Amino acid sequence: MVVKIILIVTLILCGKCDGFPLRFANYYESHMVLQMAPKRANIWGLGTVHHRVDVFIDGKNVSSATVDTHSQWRLLLPAMPKGGPHDIMITSGTENATIHDVLFGDVWICSGQSNMGFTVARLENMSTTISEAQATNGLRIFHVKNIASNKTQREPQIDGSWQHPGNDNVTKTFSAVCLLYALELAPHLNRPIGLVESAWGGTPIQVWSSPDAIDACKHHGATRATPHANSVLWNSMIAPITPMTVTGFIWYQGEANAGHAAAYQCQFTAMINDWRAKFRASSHQNATAKLPFGFVQLAPNANKTIHSGWPDLRWSQTAGYGYVPNPSLSDVFMSVAMDLPDFNSPYGS
Ligand SMILES: *[C@@H]1O[C@H](CO)[C@@H](O)[C@H](O)[C@H]1NC(C)=O
Ligand SMILES: *[C@@H]1O[C@H](CO)[C@@H](O)[C@H](O)[C@H]1NC(C)=O
Ligand SMILES: *[C@@H]1O[C@H](CO)[C@@H](O)[C@H](O)[C@H]1NC(C)=O
Ligand SMILES: *[C@@H]1O[C@H](CO)[C@@H](O)[C@H](O)[C@H]1NC(C)=O
Ligand SMILES: *[C@@H]1O[C@H](CO)[C@@H](O)[C@H](O)[C@H]1NC(C)=O
Ligand SMILES: *[C@@H]1O[C@H](CO)[C@@H](O)[C@H](O)[C@H]1NC(C)=O
Ligand SMILES: *[C@@H]1O[C@H](CO)[C@@H](O)[C@H](O)[C@H]1NC(C)=O
Repeated sequence: MVVKIILIVTLILCGKCDGFPLRFANYYESHMVLQMAPKRANIWGLGTVHHRVDVFIDGKNVSSATVDTHSQWRLLLPAMPKGGPHDIMITSGTENATIHDVLFGDVWICSGQSNMGFTVARLENMSTTISEAQATNGLRIFHVKNIASNKTQREPQIDGSWQHPGNDNVTKTFSAVCLLYALELAPHLNRPIGLVESAWGGTPIQVWSSPDAIDACKHHGATRATPHANSVLWNSMIAPITPMTVTGFIWYQGEANAGHAAAYQCQFTAMINDWRAKFRASSHQNATAKLPFGFVQLAPNANKTIHSGWPDLRWSQTAGYGYVPNPSLSDVFMSVAMDLPDFNSPYGS
């Protein structure tokens, strides 16, 4: 009788906690770039609760972890030199899964609103850019799907897979700023570069900010984006990728917060600090206290004298200093775009 009850209780409990077939998190895929040394790339996935997961790089057993009560395993790979391709295999009991053609290099997150979302297809010289990207060894792109959520998601929804840029729709609909940034870096760094685009047109900073970052500014006249919209993209498009070890962030956003420059000054600083803290904690990074954060200054969009709106928002992008880095925004860099309008652009400026 007692045995029966224990068995039934166990079955009921395990119905909830048994877990998942062994796998990597959905954005850890073949052809991806993982962060290279001196950092250690954090990898994670799902499995059966309490089971051990062993990880092999090119057949060599490098690390192991135990699946926790949330059916999740995670571990830091050894610091890996740049390059590849590598096979990464996980095994647990009789199960196994492998991702192929994995490179180690720098991983950048590209986020913001429509200017970050502006696609490669809309570039003046699209085919030249695509050819350059195709010719750049070790360049890989990945697009987080645009979706909003009121609840923090464990995994992002994904739009296609990691891939080398090519003359295809995935590349043509990828962020132009993100890709061009990597094309500028690549010849100087001579290492693989992984680009993660997580951007959505027309979005204010509040939707990209975690509840902690929102709270940090509640006494600064911060306004809600629209009712209930705070953190909805943080929840589904940023929080789920915080376990990935990254090099840094680039950001092109601000237009949707025009008219609220004073609040933005607090919100921008708070979001940067919060993203840094959350990525660092979730990916168990111990090497970088302050992940580099780059942003594009809002470019003029009309050839006329404007007294408020974008000019004061630009000022807030520098936390009121007019330059970065500064005491409020350290390890932050700015791409000055004040002199780079294109008033004849068919897509607006
Ligand atoms: C892999 O290495 C771990 C120690 O890191 C060890 O506990 C485990 O038994 C090894 N697994 C296999 C399959 O060799
Ligand atoms: C992985 O699993 C498959 C299917 O169960 C099995 O055929 C294969 O031998 C396993 N590979 C390793 C290295 O354990
Ligand atoms: C596009 O290519 C042409 C010819 O190579 C060049 O003159 C022009 O500056 C390029 N435009 C941009 C925006 O790079
Ligand atoms: C979040 O919840 C509010 C209030 O229930 C609702 O109006 C809104 O549509 C929800 N947003 C999303 C992205 O689900
Ligand atoms: C690529 O996009 C074009 C234009 O939107 C479409 O006609 C074509 O079917 C797409 N191709 C693929 C492979 O999705
Ligand atoms: C990071 O952590 C690893 C192991 O947990 C340790 O060996 C290494 O020294 C740490 N690095 C720094 C910079 O703290
Ligand atoms: C802006 O407008 C002024 C006055 O109409 C004109 O002289 C100038 O060339 C324009 N600048 C650009 C970049 O279009």
